[in-house]
Formats: sequence, C-alpha cells, structure tokens
Amino acid sequence: MEKWIAPGRVNIIGEHTDYNDGFVLPIALSLAVVCGAEPRGDGLVRLASAQRPGEVVEVRVTDLVAQRDRLPSWARYPLGVVDEFVRGGHRVTGVNLELDGEVPIGAGLSSSAAVCCAVTIALRDLFAPELTDRRMVEIARAAENGFAGVPTGLLDQSASILCTAGHAMFLDVRAFTAMKPAATEQIPFDLDAAGLALIVADTGRPHDLSDGGYAERRAQCEAAADALNLPALRDATTEELPRLRDPLLRRRAAHVVSENARVLAVVDTLRSGADPRTIGEVLTASHRSLRDDFEVSAPTLDLAVTAALDAGAHGARMVGGGFGGSIIALVDHADHVAEHIMKRFATTGFAPPRVFTVEPAAGAHKLN
Ligand code: GLA
Repeated sequence: MEKWIAPGRVNIIGEHTDYNDGFVLPIALSLAVVCGAEPRGDGLVRLASAQRPGEVVEVRVTDLVAQRDRLPSWARYPLGVVDEFVRGGHRVTGVNLELDGEVPIGAGLSSSAAVCCAVTIALRDLFAPELTDRRMVEIARAAENGFAGVPTGLLDQSASILCTAGHAMFLDVRAFTAMKPAATEQIPFDLDAAGLALIVADTGRPHDLSDGGYAERRAQCEAAADALNLPALRDATTEELPRLRDPLLRRRAAHVVSENARVLAVVDTLRSGADPRTIGEVLTASHRSLRDDFEVSAPTLDLAVTAALDAGAHGARMVGGGFGGSIIALVDHADHVAEHIMKRFATTGFAPPRVFTVEPAAGAHKLN
C-alpha cells in the first residue's frame, strides 16, 4: 500500500485572523498523519485507523451523504474528503484508506486538518493528479467545514499542504481566496542557527472547535465588520474602532486589527534577517490580546504562558482556536523553560502538560 503524510501545524502568529480575510504565519510540524491508500474497483470505501483498532468503516462512495449521520465522528473527516472528490466530479472507483496519526487530538495543533490533508493528497495522486496544491487546500477545508461540520478557516489546511521545511509560511488569506499568485511567501525560520528553540506546551485541556465558542467569535467578527460597513475586519483600522458602539464587538475587532499588524511586524523582522528573539514580545502581545480582547484563553494557557516568561522565554502565547489546547514559547534553553512550566503546573494542581520542541517541517507529500 502506498503512503502519504500530512503534518499538523503550529501558528507562529495570526490567530483568529484567517476567517477575517487576514494574515497568518504557521509552520508545519513533524507530528503528522500518515494515510495508506489503494484504489478499489467496486465503489466501496474501506476506512481503518490505527487509533481506532477494530473499528473498520465501510461505505459505498455513492452512499456517503446518505450515511453521514450514522458514521462515527472521527470517520467524517476522511470520508468528507472522499465526498468532496465525488462532488468535484472526480471518478473515485473505491478506495482502502488506513490512517495512522501522531498529532495530539484537541491540542490546537490541527490533528483534524492533518487527517483531511493526508487523505486529500492520497486521493489526488490516485484519482485526480491534475489538482493543484491550492485546490487541495480548498478540498480539505470543504470536507472539514461541510461533511465533518467544523467551521474552520483556511489556516490549518493551508499550513499542512503548503508549508516547507525550515520556513514559516506567510499567507494572505484574501489574496489566496482571490487566487492571486503572491498569496504565500516562504520565510526562512532557522531557529537553530539563532541558538533558539520553539517549545510547545500542550496543556492537556482539549479544545473543541465544534462546541460553540469558535463559531460565536466568527459571528461577532462578522457583526463588527457589518457595523463598520466593511467586507471583513481585514479592512478595519484602529482609528475606525471607536465607531463600534458595542464594547464587546469593539474588543473583538481590536484583536483582529492588532493581530494582523503583529503578523506583518513579525514577517518584516524575519524577512530582514534581524535577530528572531525580537519577535518574542510581539508573540506575548498576541497572547494578551487573545486573552483580554478576544477572550479565548483559558487559565491553563495563561499559566503556561506566565511560567514560560518567568523562566526567561523571549515570548509566549496560546495557539489555535483557544479555550484550551497548547501554547508556544520562544526560548534559549528549552529544558529549563520546560521544567519550569512542569513545576508551575504541579504546584497549582493542574495535570502535567506535555512539553516538546518543534521545528518547521515539510508540508504534505508522498512517502518513499
Ligand atoms: C482554528 C481554526 C483555524 C483558525 C484558528 C485560530 O485552528 O481551525 O482556521 O481560525 O483556530 O487562528
């Protein structure tokens, strides 16, 4: 059986900006999902996952939509991708899919996008080799939004497919959606050379994008853009914010406007070849904005960020949708900061987080 791999991601900066037509700067992780796949000729999809031993799902390609509500929720991500290929008019004659993932679930590291992207690239090679990377991003996202029913933006799938090793990827979501050629830029992000490490602390408190808080934030952003008479908050400026009478919408919009500016500031710093340590304070400002203006942080995330900063991190912030999941910290001494975070969690009685270092890895590709 041939195999394909798609990574999870961590976003360096640009949180809750993607669905506001804004900017993001993710890296792909070496934590990934592998999808083994082989075509069949009998119209059946046979799906298995190493994380679901004994739970094989079999469904006819033509029955996917009718069977959707009866499928276990984990299976809706990969099968949603098959359904997207069918909707796109690609002739899927049947396929065996075997998944094996190591991206922690609910950690804010895009395990579900990694699943969708691994299946997408496998099906592309088997049934629709003409598909561009851009189309693959759209298919993976449509599967997650539609069949799986999780209202994500473009960040996770674009990172999993388009990121390259050794780089952070600057993505202008509006330009990407408008099919502009210069929508992405690979920016060298060589932490090792700078004597730096990026650590992730997964607080173990799972986040869930389908539980309402995420969709509520999206709706608030849309309401703020409408009130300002703008197509999206991407177009808002700091000067315009006082025009928002509702203080809640003003805070939400303030986060998006300031976060987009922070992405551009970090991109400028990295492009210029300046010491990447200097982006640290921008990361920490992002955390404060997510905590106070966007209100998507959680006590465990705040604790991990404070502990990392107290231990000498140059910057730290929560990542992903929020309400749980992980933080990142930019540090000189990974072990020292990791130990400090562990200690702080132990003394406050929270379950121990999982702390590890990450480096910018390659996007989705075929194995061997
Ligand atoms: C989740 C979503 C992304 C993005 C982030 C917040 O990860 O899947 O599309 O909105 O939250 O930046």
